[in-house]
Amino acid sequence: AVASLPQAQRPRPQYIPNRIDDPNYVRIFDTTLRDGEQSPGATLTSAEKLEIAKQLAKLRVDIIEAGFPVASPDDFDAVRRIAMDVGNARDPDGYVPVICGLSRTKLRDVEVAWDAVRLAERPRVHTFLATSPIHMEYKLRMTEDQVLENAVAAVKHLRKLGCQDIEFSPEDASRSEPRFLCRVLSEVIKAGATTVNIPDTTGWALPHEFGDLIAGLRKNTEGAENVIFSAHCQNDLGMATANTLAAAEAGARQLECTINGIGERAGNTSLEEVVMAIALRGDGLMNGLWTGVQPVHIAHTSRMVQDYTGMAIQPHKAIVGANAFAHESGIHQDGMLKSRQTYEIMVPETIGLTRADEAGIVLGKHSGRHALKTRLVQLGYALKEDQVSDVFKRFKDVADKKKLISDEDLLALVTDEVHQA
Ligand code: KIV
Repeated sequence: AVASLPQAQRPRPQYIPNRIDDPNYVRIFDTTLRDGEQSPGATLTSAEKLEIAKQLAKLRVDIIEAGFPVASPDDFDAVRRIAMDVGNARDPDGYVPVICGLSRTKLRDVEVAWDAVRLAERPRVHTFLATSPIHMEYKLRMTEDQVLENAVAAVKHLRKLGCQDIEFSPEDASRSEPRFLCRVLSEVIKAGATTVNIPDTTGWALPHEFGDLIAGLRKNTEGAENVIFSAHCQNDLGMATANTLAAAEAGARQLECTINGIGERAGNTSLEEVVMAIALRGDGLMNGLWTGVQPVHIAHTSRMVQDYTGMAIQPHKAIVGANAFAHESGIHQDGMLKSRQTYEIMVPETIGLTRADEAGIVLGKHSGRHALKTRLVQLGYALKEDQVSDVFKRFKDVADKKKLISDEDLLALVTDEVHQA
């Protein structure tokens, strides 16, 4: 009987907090407070960061990257507050998020990052260094051997400080030499890294390439079987979500995302897109992948991030845009009024939204008679068929001049009709 239910309605496997032994469990690493805050103009106060972190914990992301502690005293304070508060607030189910701080490989940075997160119950430092020829030559002015040496030294230093959960990212991995990447990853794993994150820093990769890169690195890196592979995709070509899902299919079991997809330049992988893609399609195409995220908190988290960062969500943004569950054309509205499954692959309630009306219908010039009549009934007007036809004709005239027809507009049309009768 379960198999006959639409995928979205099938019961999910029982949630086990921070589960690491299920090979199909995909960790969600949220970097809204770090990479997301790097969106031009999106600066957050430390009080706002704490509020967002609490909300991310409600959403049950596995890892919260709370900031870049060496970047400023404020960032350090925010990360430390989040580590002490959210990072110690184990809920009744036993869930507590990992709190992570980002750091370059400079030993001083690594120490500051560790200091900021170490009071969390589950602290992590994420250290990174670029490995692509372009970055090594123009930005770092370092040779391959120097990059390797610095990366390993940072990981070893973190181990010495007592940090046991260490993530390493070879920045600009998708434009790096795969053989050099494997060499760096093998050495940082030997030095003690527990997660290796593969960033598509410039949003350059195509989904099949990125999937192949992850598969190749997992195959050719020494010690790969002892660590979690992660993906971090930027959205410069609009492919961050597709690349991230390709990485998951190729074996990445940590996916880095931000709420509403905010981040440097064109942004990051959007958390809500990845989570809902896995929730809806995970058991089919993606061999039973699942996450621990509770989608019912998505809408509220998305609004909170929009309001605090001032980064407005585009109306047609997947999952959380104002139009994501709205229907304007007559054919779609007619379908929706007959069955919501005709044009919706998930219901808004799944992400914690309640609809203003049953079918998410907005009236405009593409709308049909069925939708108009339904709205009139909802407003308390059970008109005769010829009256509906009359109102519909005048509704189309108005709709040609106005983007959307409000209930007030409709009431004016109906009042005219009733007066004329
Ligand atoms: O885009 C990037 O490469 C990053 C790394 C620090 C993971 O943000």
